[in-house]
Amino acid sequence: MKKTGWLLTAALLLSGCQQLDGKEKQESHQEKNVSEKQSPAKEASAGPKLEAAYFNKIKEVNGKKVITNPENIMVLVNKQFSLPGDYTPPDLVRPKVAFSFGEQDIEKSHMRKEAAEALEKMFAGAKQEQIQLFAVSGYRSYKRQVEIMNNQIASAGSFEKAAQAVAPPGQSEHQTGLTMDISAESVNFDLLQSFETTKEGQWLANNAHKYGFILRYPKGKEKVTEYMYEPWHFRYVGVKAAEEIFRHGWTLEEYFNNVEKI
Ligand code: DAL
Ligand code: ZN
Repeated sequence: MKKTGWLLTAALLLSGCQQLDGKEKQESHQEKNVSEKQSPAKEASAGPKLEAAYFNKIKEVNGKKVITNPENIMVLVNKQFSLPGDYTPPDLVRPKVAFSFGEQDIEKSHMRKEAAEALEKMFAGAKQEQIQLFAVSGYRSYKRQVEIMNNQIASAGSFEKAAQAVAPPGQSEHQTGLTMDISAESVNFDLLQSFETTKEGQWLANNAHKYGFILRYPKGKEKVTEYMYEPWHFRYVGVKAAEEIFRHGWTLEEYFNNVEKI
């Protein structure tokens, strides 16, 4: 009886741990080492696995968690994990796709090579199904994010309100060169939530994972991502992870909470 009581208490405590919010779980996951995670239950599970090199490596700078391996294609950038202010991706290129602003070769038309090639394949795949996508905004420097944030604070009225839609400098995925905002002519190439109702937005939501992209800020996951729903913002993570994330309906935060480090 005594033993049963103890087991019940332990089970309740464990289920209490599951109630931790996304933030705490994510941080504890990032800090866990491999041996801690190898419980018998995990060994028996057939869940996703990921090599250690794809996890964030972190150093604390003035109380901020700064990523020391930002070139990692699976880098997790959010309100907990910042890119170094001076980080510029090493291999930016201009993907050969249609842009909302035409032929200009400018900062926001760039992406990292691997992501750019995947974007080209995705746009070509869409075209085969009579879906015309337009790239709107890719790579952004830290400096550009400062300008965008300042403009957003001016229109939203406060930093807190602005930060629901725009990432604070150093915390934008656009600085990784792995992200593209995508739109369509039917919404005047704008970045609007109504993009979700267009055939282009729906095609992307249902097919982007096949090309290695995820819809990074889904509807209903605002508490996890700490951003409003953005049906236009697609992040490259590679096909394997994108398929797993899509299949489970996860965010990138939830993927890292569930994936086993190997
Ligand atoms: N709009 C997204 C969150 C960004 O600013 O990176
Ligand atoms: Zn975006």
